[in-house]
Amino acid sequence: MSFAADVRAGLSRDPKRLPPRWFYDDLGSRLFGAICALPWYRVTRAELGLLTGASHVVRRRMGKPGLVVELGCGTGEKLALLLEGLLGPRERTRVALVDVSREALALTASRLAVRGGLSVQTFRADYRVGLGSALLQRARGPALVVFLGSNLGNFDPPQARRFLTRIRRALRPGDGLLLGADLVKPEADLVLAYDDPLGVTASFNKNLLRRMNDELGAGFDLDTFRHRALWDAGRSRVEMHLVSCVSQSVEVPGARLTARFRRGETIFTEASYKYTESGLRSALGDAGFPCECSWIDEKARFALSFFRVP
Ligand SMILES: C[S@@+](CC[C@H](N)C(=O)[O-])C[C@H]1O[C@@H](n2cnc3c(N)ncnc32)[C@H](O)[C@@H]1O
Repeated sequence: MSFAADVRAGLSRDPKRLPPRWFYDDLGSRLFGAICALPWYRVTRAELGLLTGASHVVRRRMGKPGLVVELGCGTGEKLALLLEGLLGPRERTRVALVDVSREALALTASRLAVRGGLSVQTFRADYRVGLGSALLQRARGPALVVFLGSNLGNFDPPQARRFLTRIRRALRPGDGLLLGADLVKPEADLVLAYDDPLGVTASFNKNLLRRMNDELGAGFDLDTFRHRALWDAGRSRVEMHLVSCVSQSVEVPGARLTARFRRGETIFTEASYKYTESGLRSALGDAGFPCECSWIDEKARFALSFFRVP
């Protein structure tokens, strides 16, 4: 769906909701990069800390990959680190990057260009579509699909199982999957990670309103909305919302819509599901990925898992 179609559908329904992929225009991708540097958002540092050790194990288990596919590459920092451990100094491979964000693809491709010896293709597409196109780049040797950070957490549990199953079906014997997943942790830590005292995550969330103003000619007054993050323990997810502080109507001409808000009404902009270790194992097992190796950062409660298709 296009941005306009998603905005029209999402702001016409009750409760209002927008898919999180629209966060990542050029500015949104840079704001996400800033979130990764915040002391309260531990996912990135935790995963970077696990990746070097994991990369050597992946290399030993699957040999040199002929193709590495990253779904949702962000700044590319993690992929660059992973490739250092996966490949010898003069080894070459193909890399396929799938991301909805032009900025993320450009940042990652330029970071990888510094290494040399990589043939990089970019696919500006949703994960589902991009995965198929990316795997067509297969050369000799197995393919490794990489899905890092808390990307999986944006899917609700049935969607996550379906998407993991889709990846499994697209893989061949000898191929691998390296998956990051954020784990359940104390509520205060989770809320701070999504509502930081510097207001960077709030800016990232509100950037959606700015994007609708810029791209769809909308009339959102950013000062009349505030950011809210909350932990829903029953659903095991952090929710991000944009709360309208006043009762108001906002024209969104590019989506042929007048959006009406009650005071206190919200736009639900992101669900970020957190896994227990056993929940993660069963989601992966159900999709055909029995656990092969996993690494956990106990302090940040973040898991990295690797599977090789037998
Ligand atoms: C939360 S960031 C994580 C980036 C990186 N994987 C990391 O761990 O730091 C999510 C990335 O996935 C991209 N993305 C989000 N939803 C997507 C979708 N449905 N299809 C393709 N890319 C998506 C965003 O543009 C962004 O670069």
